[in-house]
Amino acid sequence: MPNLMGLDISTTGAKALIVDEKGGVIAAANSPQPISQPQPLWSEQNPADWWDGISASIRQVLADSGLEGHEIDAIGLTGQMHGLVLLDAYGDVLRPAILWNDQRTQAQCDDMTARVGARRLIELTGNPAVTGFTAPKLLWVRENEPEIYTKIDQILLPKDYIRFMLSTDYATDLAGASGTSLLNVAERAWSDEMLAALDIPRAWLPPVHEGTDFTASVSGETADLTGLENGTPIVGGGGDQAAGAVGMGCVSPDKIGVTVGTSGVVFAPLSRYAYEAEGRLHAFCHALPGTWHFMGVMLSAAGSLQWYKDTFAPDVDFDELLAEAAHAPAGSDGLFFLPYLTGERSPHPDPLARGAFIGITSRHSRGHMTRAVLEGVAFGLKDSFTLIAQAGLPDRYEVRISGGGAKSPVWQQIIADVLAAPLVNINTTEGGAFGAAILASVSAGLYRDVASACKAMIQTGDKVPVSADAEIYAERYRVYQSLYPALKETFTRL
Ligand code: XUL
Repeated sequence: MPNLMGLDISTTGAKALIVDEKGGVIAAANSPQPISQPQPLWSEQNPADWWDGISASIRQVLADSGLEGHEIDAIGLTGQMHGLVLLDAYGDVLRPAILWNDQRTQAQCDDMTARVGARRLIELTGNPAVTGFTAPKLLWVRENEPEIYTKIDQILLPKDYIRFMLSTDYATDLAGASGTSLLNVAERAWSDEMLAALDIPRAWLPPVHEGTDFTASVSGETADLTGLENGTPIVGGGGDQAAGAVGMGCVSPDKIGVTVGTSGVVFAPLSRYAYEAEGRLHAFCHALPGTWHFMGVMLSAAGSLQWYKDTFAPDVDFDELLAEAAHAPAGSDGLFFLPYLTGERSPHPDPLARGAFIGITSRHSRGHMTRAVLEGVAFGLKDSFTLIAQAGLPDRYEVRISGGGAKSPVWQQIIADVLAAPLVNINTTEGGAFGAAILASVSAGLYRDVASACKAMIQTGDKVPVSADAEIYAERYRVYQSLYPALKETFTRL
C-alpha cells in the first residue's frame, strides 16, 4: 500500500503527517514552535527551531505508524507563506526569519510602489506591495542591516528551508513564490522587471516548480537523522493556503474555501490569471499546474478569539465561552467587534488598523462579547467573499470550511448566516499537510492529476444550512462596513 508524507511548517507548529492513497490518516505529529516579537510590529522565528521540530515530528510519525523510511513513496511540503529566510554562501542562516505577520515594512512597501508604479505592480505580481510579503522584508534588511545584506547568497521561504535541510537543494513552488512580490504571476516565472526595479540579484532566488513537480530527494545525512530513506522524492508542494485548498478539494472555480486559522482566508480557484484592479484581493498561482486563485486574508481570525479568551477569560474553557455566545442573540444586541488586532490585509491593507468593541452598553454580558468576536471575524470573511463574488463566481458553487476555529458549530452557523451561503465540512482536520500529501500522490504516479487525487482522497462531511438569522446579519453587515472608514484616521493617530 503506498504511503505519502505531508510536512507543514506553520507559525505554531512543525507537523508531519502520513496518509495512505485513499487519504486515510496513518499518523500525525506536531512539534510546537516558539515565536518572538522582539519589537512592536515585528514577528520572527528561528529556522533551526523549524528543523528540530520537523525532524522530531518525522521520527515520531515513522515510529507511530510502524513504517520504515522506504515505505514512504513521496513527500509534499507546505508551510507559512511570505517568510524571509536568508542564507550565506555556506547555507548558514544569517538572521531570524521575518514572518508573514510581521508589519515593520510599510516604508519599503511605499518605496516599491513608487519604483514600480501601483498599477504595474498589481498587473505583474497580482498584488499591491503588502507589508507581510517577502520583497519588502528584503529591502528592510538592505536598509537596516547592511552587514547582513552583503552576505546574502540565497533567499528561501520557510518550507523551502526545510526542503534544503532535507535534500541540500534549493527550490520553491509557484504558489509560495506568488507571495514574494517577485513573481510574474501570469507567466509563472520570476519577474525580471520586478528584480531590476528593486535591484535584487536573480541568483539569490531558487528555481520555481509546479506543486506536483519532483524537486529534490532526501539526502543520506537527513536519512540517518530522521529515519527517512535516502533518495525519497520531495515534490514542489505549496504555500499553506494553496496546499490547504487542495486538502479541501478546492481545485476548480466552483469550490470556494473558507479557512478559520490564526488568519482567516477565503480562497477561490481560477482557471485563468486575473487580478483585482485595486489589489484588495490577492491573485496567486494555485498549487495545481496552470491554475490560479483569488484570496482574501484577514490577519486575526481564530487569533482574535484566542486573544479574547486569554485576556478576558483565561480560566474558562472554549466550550463554555462558545455556549454563552450561542445564547446571545444574532447581532449581539448592537455590539460589534473589529478583528484588526494585528493590523489588516483584505480588504483594508493597513498595518495600523486596530481592534475595537463598538456599541457596548450595560446590558451586554460576556456571552454578547464572545458572540461579537465570532460575528466580527465572520464579517471580515464576508468582506473578502463579497470582493470574490464581485470579481465573478460561477452560477453554482459550494463553500467548504476548515481550520481549527471552524470546529465550533456555533461559529460555523454564524459564518454560514453572515456569508448567506451553506457550508460543507471536510472529513479531515489535517489542513495544509494533507494537501501537500495529495500533491505528493500525483508526483508519485498514484493519480493522473490533482483533481482525481482529491476525488479519491477527500470525503465531504456535515453541511451547515443558512438560517433565518441571515436577514439580521445582512443589515448588521452594512453597519460593520461603515466602521473601518469611520475609524481609520483615529487608528492612524493611535
Ligand atoms: C497567506 C498568509 C497566511 C500565512 C500563515 O497569505 O499570510 O495564511 O501563510 O498561515
